[in-house]
Amino acid sequence: MPAFIETQFPIARLSAEAYKERKGASSQTLPKLGKWWGRKPLILVRAAILGMLLPASDNPKKDREIFLKILTMDDDGAWQRCKGEIPVAAWREAATDDIRDEYFGARGFRQGLSDEEKEVVCARIWESLDDDQRKALDDQRRRPVPDRAEFDALSYAERIRHCERPENVRGPVESAWIEINEHLGTTATNLSELVQQLGQRTFGHTPRVGDCFCGGGSIPFEAARIGCQAFGSDLNPVASLLTWASLNLLGGGREVQEKVRRRQEEFFVAADRQITEWGIEHNDRGERAEAFLYCVEVKPEGCDYYIPLAPSWVISEKYRIVVTWRKDPDSDRLNPKVITVSEEELKLFKDKKGATVIDSRVIDPFNPNRSWSIEALRGPGGLRRWTNDDLVPRPEDVFQERLYCIRWIKTVIKNGKPKEIRRYAAPEAGDLAREEKVLELLSERFVDWQQKGFIPSKAIISGYNTDQPIRERGWTHWHHLFTPRQLLVHGLFSLVAGVNETKDVYKIVANSISLAACSNWNSKLCQWLPHLAASGGIGAFAQTFYNQALNTLFNWGVRSTTTLEKLSGFSYLNSLALPQLKHLVASIDARDITETCDLWVTDPPYADAVNYHELGDFFLAWYDKQLARAFPEWPSDARAELAVRGDGEYFRRSMVEIYKNLARHMPDSGLQMVMFTHQDPAVWADLGMILWAAGLKAIAAWTISTETEAAGIKKGNYVQGTVCLVLRKRLANEPGFLDEAHALVEDEVKRQIASMQALDEGGEPNFNDADYQLAAYAAALKVLTQYGTLDGRDVEHEVFAVRARNEKSDFQALIERALSIACDTLVPRGLEASWRSLSLVERYYLRALDIESRGERRKGMYEELARGFGVTDIRPLLKSDKANGARMHIASGFGATGLSAPKDGNTAVLSARRGRTATGAAHPFASSPLRHLLFAIRETSASVNNPETGRQYLRDTFGQGYWGQREHFIALLEWLANLGNTEGMHEWINDSEAARILAGRLRNDHP
Ligand SMILES: C[S@@+](CC[C@H](N)C(=O)[O-])C[C@H]1O[C@@H](n2cnc3c(N)ncnc32)[C@H](O)[C@@H]1O
Repeated sequence: MPAFIETQFPIARLSAEAYKERKGASSQTLPKLGKWWGRKPLILVRAAILGMLLPASDNPKKDREIFLKILTMDDDGAWQRCKGEIPVAAWREAATDDIRDEYFGARGFRQGLSDEEKEVVCARIWESLDDDQRKALDDQRRRPVPDRAEFDALSYAERIRHCERPENVRGPVESAWIEINEHLGTTATNLSELVQQLGQRTFGHTPRVGDCFCGGGSIPFEAARIGCQAFGSDLNPVASLLTWASLNLLGGGREVQEKVRRRQEEFFVAADRQITEWGIEHNDRGERAEAFLYCVEVKPEGCDYYIPLAPSWVISEKYRIVVTWRKDPDSDRLNPKVITVSEEELKLFKDKKGATVIDSRVIDPFNPNRSWSIEALRGPGGLRRWTNDDLVPRPEDVFQERLYCIRWIKTVIKNGKPKEIRRYAAPEAGDLAREEKVLELLSERFVDWQQKGFIPSKAIISGYNTDQPIRERGWTHWHHLFTPRQLLVHGLFSLVAGVNETKDVYKIVANSISLAACSNWNSKLCQWLPHLAASGGIGAFAQTFYNQALNTLFNWGVRSTTTLEKLSGFSYLNSLALPQLKHLVASIDARDITETCDLWVTDPPYADAVNYHELGDFFLAWYDKQLARAFPEWPSDARAELAVRGDGEYFRRSMVEIYKNLARHMPDSGLQMVMFTHQDPAVWADLGMILWAAGLKAIAAWTISTETEAAGIKKGNYVQGTVCLVLRKRLANEPGFLDEAHALVEDEVKRQIASMQALDEGGEPNFNDADYQLAAYAAALKVLTQYGTLDGRDVEHEVFAVRARNEKSDFQALIERALSIACDTLVPRGLEASWRSLSLVERYYLRALDIESRGERRKGMYEELARGFGVTDIRPLLKSDKANGARMHIASGFGATGLSAPKDGNTAVLSARRGRTATGAAHPFASSPLRHLLFAIRETSASVNNPETGRQYLRDTFGQGYWGQREHFIALLEWLANLGNTEGMHEWINDSEAARILAGRLRNDHP
């Protein structure tokens, strides 16, 4: 019996849920544990695993209904998730006295609690209640959309804006379980039981799900959460640590979490006591520092003072605070002055007033006409390379570093209540002395702490991303990316945590996770944000990895210990207990895996902009020695040489080896899903071949919109698809023959498309154009990958055959042929009767308009479509070729240029009347009847919708042929007449009106 996912997948609803999860930012479950790049949404993982476990029956509509019920993504499920918030007063009421006193004021939460902290408090209250008390609390929710009919009338994406995410509710309600069990023949009352029963049926035991590229752990974590046994491994120990923490700390249940939290609090108190004793964060006014702002300074040739560098000197937008610089007659160092300015002045500062770095040039603050190229300042041989023992720049270095501002905080009692007062100030003599003391304290401990692994000692290995700090600052070791203050405080955390004296894995992991959070949020690569809304605009810190690079900065912010507490205080733990099964996490090359899993769900790195092995070292440097004690069998470096990367020969070979290995380690009844966030669907031919060569056969492919780069899912513009390719083991290596395969591919593509169209009918559209195209590729792969050889040729040999650029193998040609079949099968609604009489380029233009009218703006999709219709040059047809803003020309947009006489038309008339026929090799569209029809629309529109000019143009151009084409023209005009009414196609309004009027005139035309 096929699995549900082999036949269908609820793409549209899943995409909406994945989008919501991604948008959840700080409320996402796993990112709280630490930074990793390219995490997959948990809802997608959940749906994928359940889709692989659920059998498909002969009633696809019912299957879909049940599948959605299990995920609480059916209409009833979504309504039950539309719960609204529990009012704060109700939380307060339900809290124990201790929690109430600690976290609540008279009316609500105590001031200053972050959203995350509030979440944790609520989770603690929830945990302390019995079932009846929980129900009573839950009953106090107020639904944001109180009326069910009103809720159901919304689109799914709009509905779930008001809903909890599926992962945050208990699962289907009792009545849903009755229906689910009836359809599946199970007796489950929760997800784990269902998974257990379905696994038992197919594999004879609780299903085991594996991911050999587990990264941040989404796949093993979600597998474990729904009741599977999970196996996760990654080449990079940082990823394995995150995965281990997701399963054992985050998912470890209340007792584990409380223990860790308590310990963490104790360490923090101890560290805070030491910092206070050292006196490095307090001044003699009773204030404590919250933020230290540093910048680089340079003394260019011909300048007799050091210029402090920053692209902007705004410190806090809310308080309108900026820094200005004064010369000092006794020194070549400038003095900062922290001042409050007027709104107008602030605007000028935001507009780069006083900026000393603009467009990679250093600007003299006292003479903006004097500037120096930063590249030239580094010198022809580049900067001096720092050595391990350099903690600050040496006096002779080009780039010096200095403290220029401090934010102080003090609690005062106002009207009987505590109130926090903040103040920004330039450093004074006492502050500079404290800086010296920090350096002294660190220098005294440096060697010992490096040896013990409290601070990094690793050198930075040269690479694509890692070369940036080496080149731009001369930093050669990971600790060079931190100020002495940061090294001292982070190192102190490890010291007081006693990580060196323990083998307690939980203790070490908790400390490593804290250190990683501290280093991401507190390094010399953390921008100072004077405007961040979330901070109330008082000024805040960005994270090191705000993007996937190691970008050096000219000015940055350093946190004091108090603001680090929030990062390292385990506020992310909110009592999540995973079903206690045997989960395993390893750190090995995927080629060496020896664990067997029933289902492998993987998300390999592909042509990836992320250099995991380089970026991961930023974190690993902080805890490599500690990790070696907690997990002696894990390697202590990222083994860059083994990382799968790129998209060339090395990538293909590694991937074939890895997937061969996975196929060896799964039962014959097992399934695999390979996820790829794709840019170009043609990549799928390549990947398909790799998996084919690995002994797998493709059975389905689905695209889910998972990435949310900018706009949103509604606009469809910037949403990136993750393709999920479903595979089984190829058990027999039957020989295949290309000519036979052609016919089979054609049938399979048509069958696949018809079944998707049937699911789309009558409901909200589930599939978009990209899905249909992908389905065509998948259908071709489905046919091809069942064979062991094609025309006697071995697949593996074909995958690695050396070919000239643009040369295609027969396999690739066949896969592309599938796309043409799909393109031709998908006729825009309303053009069915005319389709056959259109040339390929005309079909392309109309299909492209069709996808444009459905909101598609990705240029890649227009290019892919062109491939399907064999159109090699689409530029003359595109009004805009922006990557995410592609649009076709409207009728009038083509103008009068580029027209050439139709094959059976009247050339003399055309050139005589227009004098603008195309010269040279014209584009095939230029002579097509459709192009002339568009011109006739333009003529009609230009003569204020008098259709005579358009009609006359067509009669002149086509001569007697006009009468044979008239009906065809009318059908096309009617279709174009509707475009202007479509959302997002307002540019067509005038031309559509002209088309409608011209159609009426043609209908009444007589010879
Ligand atoms: C796209 S990421 C996976 C992200 C993951 N699915 C998540 O949700 O966080 C790919 C992963 O493959 C890992 N990797 C690269 N080469 C590998 C190899 N040879 N063996 C095992 N893992 C490898 C990288 O370290 C990276 O974590």
